[in-house]
Amino acid sequence: MVVRVLVGAQWGDEGKGKITDMLSKEADVVVRYQGGNNAGHTIVVDGEVFKLHIVPSGILYEHVECVISNGVVISPGVLIKEIEALEAKGYSVKNLKISNNAHVIFPFHEQLDRSEESERTDDSKIGTTFRGIGPCYTDKISRRGVRMVELKDKESLRASVLHHDWTTLLGIAQEEVDAVIDQYLEYGRILKPYMVDVVDLLHKRVQEGKTILLEGAQGTLLDVDFGTYPYVTSSNPTAGGACTGSGLGPTQIEEVLGVAKAYITRVGEGPFPTELCDKFGEDLRTKGQEFGTTTGRPRRCGWLDGVLLKYAVLVNGMTHLAITKLDILSGLSEVKMAVAYEIDGKRSDKWPDNIRDLSKVKPIYESFPGWEENIEDITDFYKLPKTAQLYIKAIEKFVGVPVSLVSVGNSRERTIYRHG
Ligand code: IMP
Repeated sequence: MVVRVLVGAQWGDEGKGKITDMLSKEADVVVRYQGGNNAGHTIVVDGEVFKLHIVPSGILYEHVECVISNGVVISPGVLIKEIEALEAKGYSVKNLKISNNAHVIFPFHEQLDRSEESERTDDSKIGTTFRGIGPCYTDKISRRGVRMVELKDKESLRASVLHHDWTTLLGIAQEEVDAVIDQYLEYGRILKPYMVDVVDLLHKRVQEGKTILLEGAQGTLLDVDFGTYPYVTSSNPTAGGACTGSGLGPTQIEEVLGVAKAYITRVGEGPFPTELCDKFGEDLRTKGQEFGTTTGRPRRCGWLDGVLLKYAVLVNGMTHLAITKLDILSGLSEVKMAVAYEIDGKRSDKWPDNIRDLSKVKPIYESFPGWEENIEDITDFYKLPKTAQLYIKAIEKFVGVPVSLVSVGNSRERTIYRHG
């Protein structure tokens, strides 16, 4: 038995989908513990591409119980479409479980997300995905949110929805609000068979000695507490969020695997010390196909940031790292990693705890020799070009945790395992 957390070590889009998918194979239970359909996981199986936004990637394995736990915010219409799409491709969703206590995203939240973002000035825009994530979590924290369980009960749902004055707030006609309530009751009817007491379920699985994978969406630097606030999402993707988002306790977690790209990307606004705003950055985007799974937006690209990665190791209590997309760096004469920052003319080895300092950072790089070879088909670490091995070892040494897995391509086969 092992309870393992998988987290994004950067700004999301680290290639977690593939790693989750691979770890799911060995798991009995996969739990998605925060975020909503702002996330997008791309998985390639036998050349077929799956883009999942809310259903845990473990769903592609019949033996895996897939859980959407209390920390997640659910757009039920999106979830139902995803279930239907999976079934249409011949995948069973009979093992899907949804927490009664997960919060519900309404179309009003999406509208609010759009209107709040459009009211922000250019330099304060967050670049949200417009999926209603922030407004839904706001309702949760303000103790006026709607939980999934209420979709099973007409009176309760009506009372909770009407508790908000959507008509005044967004100028929505009462009939439209009523229509949404009816539609959500229908969603409740469809999703009812999947809704369970997830705390009870997960603790039973722990007692049964099952292997559980807690899957984080987004990434450490998008965490509402530890990220580049306010340019963050509204939940806790970091490992602590796996506990509050699922009901498993910290002492039950044995491993925390961080996933980082061999370089770094970010979508949306906010500071990004190692960003490459030149042709080189553009080439990296094209080669790495760095466009958002959810919104299609081009991702900003940059060199690997070791200072950031070290911070991510700390705040997650990471035990291992997986480095993805190493193949994208092939063909470069040199590769770089930021090993310190210069702030106001002073050298600092530490990730700044405030956005003002972070915006002033000038990265100090260490340069490593590149490699020419195509490495996509290599599955043994020691068959990688020596310079690629050196780069991975340098990352490992710098951040202080082992790199247990290196990904060199989209498909499951293109993976190098290390350290047993
Ligand atoms: P929200 O989560 O839609 O509120 O967006 C807040 C910030 O998080 C924006 O900068 C988004 O681009 C970013 N974000 C949200 N989800 C993801 C993700 O899955 N990958 C990368 N960035 C994300």
